[in-house]
Amino acid sequence: MENFDKRAIDAKLAEGFPFTHRWHNRFHLEMPFGLINDPNGMTYHNGAYHIFYQWNPYGCAHKNKSWAHTKTRDFCTYQIPQLALWPTDEHDKDGCYSGCGTEEDGHLRVLYTCNAKDEAGNRSSVQRFGTYTKAAGAVKKEEIIIDGPPAGFTAHFRDPYLFDWRGVRHLVIGAQTEDERGCVLVYHEAPMRWECLGELRTQLKDFGYMWECPNLLSFGDYDVLVFCPQGVAARAYDRQNVYQAGYIAGHASMDAMEMLMHGRFKELDHGFDFYAPQILTHEGRHILIGWMGMPDREEDYPTREEGWMHSLTLPRVLTLRQGHIFSEPVRELKALRHRDTERALEAEGESEFSTTLYDLTELILDLTMGDAYSVSVELVFGLEKLVFRYNRLEQVMTIDRTGMKLGGRGTRVFKLYAEETLSMRMYVDHGAVEVFFQHGEEAATIALFPEKNIRPALRVFSDVDLKQLSGVLWELEPFH
Ligand code: FRU
Repeated sequence: MENFDKRAIDAKLAEGFPFTHRWHNRFHLEMPFGLINDPNGMTYHNGAYHIFYQWNPYGCAHKNKSWAHTKTRDFCTYQIPQLALWPTDEHDKDGCYSGCGTEEDGHLRVLYTCNAKDEAGNRSSVQRFGTYTKAAGAVKKEEIIIDGPPAGFTAHFRDPYLFDWRGVRHLVIGAQTEDERGCVLVYHEAPMRWECLGELRTQLKDFGYMWECPNLLSFGDYDVLVFCPQGVAARAYDRQNVYQAGYIAGHASMDAMEMLMHGRFKELDHGFDFYAPQILTHEGRHILIGWMGMPDREEDYPTREEGWMHSLTLPRVLTLRQGHIFSEPVRELKALRHRDTERALEAEGESEFSTTLYDLTELILDLTMGDAYSVSVELVFGLEKLVFRYNRLEQVMTIDRTGMKLGGRGTRVFKLYAEETLSMRMYVDHGAVEVFFQHGEEAATIALFPEKNIRPALRVFSDVDLKQLSGVLWELEPFH
């Protein structure tokens, strides 16, 4: 573990980005150096959205885990990040792991997992509060509220997420039983202590050896448990990443300690690079930010050689309709559009269409398919391309990254129900594409590393003429 030097790190961050590299994203949160992963401590406090995230400021390995902090009022401009929480004592010496944030008595408090390993490699995981102080730009560590997992569970016990339940503070935490089954444990705040209420049972069978990063949200009468199972096998139309990030929607019962009448596990995103999302709720909006990355797939990310790795996704608003989560970018992002760059796309009765995009683009595309049964939307970077291929007969979307030289090659395939019109909203940054299909019914986050520094072009093909193509695109303003 490195000896963390906040002053030196913050000074280096204050120098800003060395925008010498074409893969640095310009409107996604990322760091000029080091490796970032999970969003942490997301809290609305004093008129701003505070966003922390896992960070190794000393390289691109998954170690030296600390928290970085930034804040924003509008999701378009962000404060220069600083180092906010880092290993200092025997409890967290091997990492300040993920956790959440909350407002309490006018203060921004965080709750995180202290990770430590002894000489024999035995892990200990305790959960500790801290208070973020603006003056220090850092978290002051406070009491440990949970001193390890209950009997019957292993030390894979992390990522606490606080929520209010009938006026009492509760938390969910990712856990593993001694027979290596992933699950979520629930605690509530009792006088002077946090009491374990047990495992929040579900109907899911054989669902992995560990669940990370749980969140519990309420949408009216429905509750949604978001979590990241590890060890679930891929299927024809889902679960194709090494680990998943998804949810079940139903009714959480804290008496029965069970998610009642829940539907199937659905993924929140079908791209290659989405994991460990955290959700902040403010004024009735559930705002999600995910990690644009994937554990144990380091070889897919060539920026490692340049000294930085990964980004966070755009903030997305979640809504629940008929048991399904829709996600769309927060409306504040419209302010990133350069007004005078708005360009309409229009074609009728064509089976081929192409146009160039801006350097940073938001694109809305509506393809009224008519008699077409196969439609491809391509982002072309010279000789390389990323393809979205829709098979209308099977109602299947394939995202094909095999046409890109760098980054993980391969495809991701998922069900998408487009009857007449295939709708896509795309955000194209230098090293990332985020797509929202059918007005947020499905989403996909894809990291991209085009070999050449060329503006992407858009190409649309169909087997027979599309009835209509209409769209609009904007150039976006970078925020770093
Ligand atoms: C998820 C995760 C969390 C852990 C953190 C450590 O990506 O493995 O479970 O707290 O990353 O960086």
